[in-house]
Amino acid sequence: MKIYAILGLLIFTNLSVFAQERFELDEKAEKEINKIISELTLVEKVGQTCQITLDALLARDESGELLEPIQFDPEKFNIALCEYRVGSILNVSSHTLTMDEWNNILPKVNNAFLNKKINVPIIYGIDAIHGVNYTVGATLFPQEIGLAATWNNDLSYEFGEITAYEMRKTGLRWNFSPVLDLARQPLWSRYFETLGEDPYLAGELGESIVMGYQGSKYSYLDDFHVASCLKHFVGYSMPQSGRDRTPAWIPQKFMTELYLPPFKKSIDAGAMTLMINSGDVNGIPGHANKALLTDLLKDEWGFKGFTVSDWEDFIMLQTVHNVAADQREAIAMAINAGVDMSMVPYNPQYKEYCETLLKCVEEGDVSMERLEDAVRRILRVKMAIGLYDKKSYKKTDYPDFASEAFKNSALQSAQESITLLKNEDDLLPLKKSTKVLVAGPTGNNLTFINGAWTHTWQGVDESYNTENCETIYSAIAKKVGAENCQYAQGANLVLKGGWETSTLVDSSDFKSKAANSDVIVLCVGELPSTEKPGDIRSLDLLDAQMDLAKMAYRTGKPVVLVLVEARPRVIHDIVGDANAVFQTYLPGDYGGTALADLMFGDVNPSGKLPYSYPKYPGVVEFYDRPKSVDRSGKSNEFDAFEPEWEFGFGLSYTDFEYSNLSIDKSKMSRTDSIQVTVDVKNVGDREGKEVVQLYISDLKASIVPAGKRLRGYSKIDLKPSETETVAFTIHTDDLQFSDAQGNWILENGEFQVEISGENVNFELN
Ligand code: BGC
Repeated sequence: MKIYAILGLLIFTNLSVFAQERFELDEKAEKEINKIISELTLVEKVGQTCQITLDALLARDESGELLEPIQFDPEKFNIALCEYRVGSILNVSSHTLTMDEWNNILPKVNNAFLNKKINVPIIYGIDAIHGVNYTVGATLFPQEIGLAATWNNDLSYEFGEITAYEMRKTGLRWNFSPVLDLARQPLWSRYFETLGEDPYLAGELGESIVMGYQGSKYSYLDDFHVASCLKHFVGYSMPQSGRDRTPAWIPQKFMTELYLPPFKKSIDAGAMTLMINSGDVNGIPGHANKALLTDLLKDEWGFKGFTVSDWEDFIMLQTVHNVAADQREAIAMAINAGVDMSMVPYNPQYKEYCETLLKCVEEGDVSMERLEDAVRRILRVKMAIGLYDKKSYKKTDYPDFASEAFKNSALQSAQESITLLKNEDDLLPLKKSTKVLVAGPTGNNLTFINGAWTHTWQGVDESYNTENCETIYSAIAKKVGAENCQYAQGANLVLKGGWETSTLVDSSDFKSKAANSDVIVLCVGELPSTEKPGDIRSLDLLDAQMDLAKMAYRTGKPVVLVLVEARPRVIHDIVGDANAVFQTYLPGDYGGTALADLMFGDVNPSGKLPYSYPKYPGVVEFYDRPKSVDRSGKSNEFDAFEPEWEFGFGLSYTDFEYSNLSIDKSKMSRTDSIQVTVDVKNVGDREGKEVVQLYISDLKASIVPAGKRLRGYSKIDLKPSETETVAFTIHTDDLQFSDAQGNWILENGEFQVEISGENVNFELN
């Protein structure tokens, strides 16, 4: 099957027609798995739950440096796989690998099983979170926050399928993706890894990605797909301090309404694995939360796949969370809570893990039944992804790796994600005869537009950049001609003592080049970073970049402000004087080209913010705020909700007019649904894509209702003067909310449907 054939079909495919069923194998497979388990020794069963990092198996020179190209240390390999019977490996060492290097590593892992050195195949996990970012030359898409800004389910599915295909080419079958945490804490360093602030949008897009990875399969995968891993279950993204992996406080009501639904939706779509939240929520570490992992996920939701810990998190129960006195208590606590596999992941820690878990089982701290349940879950996934099939693959398989069709898909994702936030006096699109100065630290660098998890963990090493991809500057130079395009850095972005800093650089170069240009494209943002290294102390954009913007305004030239950022940095003081503003998020390898296409009008912008962009560093709010936030009194002090730009906002070069919002009935019963239709007309003179967004407000409820909640969206493409009638169905599920204890409830009363400022009411009774 050729993947571009699939891509072609997708355009006409409504994702909702795919079967949505939970991951499950047939009775025959379950019997087979029970037989395998009955033949495993205790050491082998324990080993199945152990995951180690590739680094722990690699050969080093006398000074401890890794040998390059990387290679297994045969002794370490033997001890881990044949003695300790470790069942899973993850990650790359310090950097991305070429296809040849992967070909040198992965077959050795598979051969250990095929040559009967071990009885169970190894499952290898990787973070291929915006494309196969640890394989040189793979197709790199926008990071998830950018994908969210496309509001395009089909593109998200396509991203999943292409990533899966390129993983299979590499020889990998288990992806630690997608992140389904919500972006509600902008200080958090992994904001860009999420699908935005809203559970409905994240749920829809997350499900599309999962189906793309797995090929809409909920049992055995074919040769073109991989297992997904939803992460990080659950509440990780809401650290109260803003710092990565620190405590979250999430009332049960918001757990039910906001944080759990995206996970539930993807589990119902067949997701095979889940990774656990490293932090603690309401004082309970993710890895010790039996109510969530066993009672809810496995028992109530019926999840049959396996859960994996995050990095070193069993150890952290003792050393960071302080809920276990020693490793034995920590291991028993996590396994008994419902974690099936421990990402230990180093040597010699993995040996201690295996030996201790073995003792726990022998001495009754962990029951054999619980251990076998974990092993059964792991074997199900190993079987489903074909690790038991003795199939061999040729170098010539998967010929579409990094093909033009794949690159075009990544380019389209970037084009549909980049969001036009301001366009005063229609400065944009620019004419191709414009003389442009591209300035700013993020304007001429591929690593900045890709962000972390690109070739290396933090994404700052440029040595592995994909060939022939444009930076913002080089892409604009292609539009206007090299002689009409200059670059001046103006300010730098560097790490000092672990913290991001910025200083002005060669201002006279900037000023003289500005004097010779018609327009300044000023690219500001953040250094690539993630996890703890990505912690910041303030949401404000660093001073030097603010100063550079002010310097640009003083030249009197029109300024297009371009944001290249992992999270919304506060830029209020420089928004007013900017003539135009683009949010690019982290648009990936084709982001430079995509931005230039949009800036010069070859493509019409259609991205919409997947979060509320804060105006002030201390005021962070969300679009679904209760109406009580909006009390406007006589003085401004009550006007709390005041983002720089609202969730769902994004401009186009054309205008859309909404009319005839109507519902098919004004009273709905509890077994009923309501059809909503609205006409959308392109009243401008360019073709354009529009995201039609449907919100519902519960006007009165027994506890304070959300002001409005997204309950449907549809991305449409309209030619000038074309009108489309867009239809949505509202079900009672869309009207439910959680009580304070976390139970879904449905209350009679009046509701309001809103689409683009038009509204209509109905009653549930
Ligand atoms: C991250 C996970 C990631 C894992 C493996 C952890 O530090 O939190 O998101 O999947 O490492 O690389």
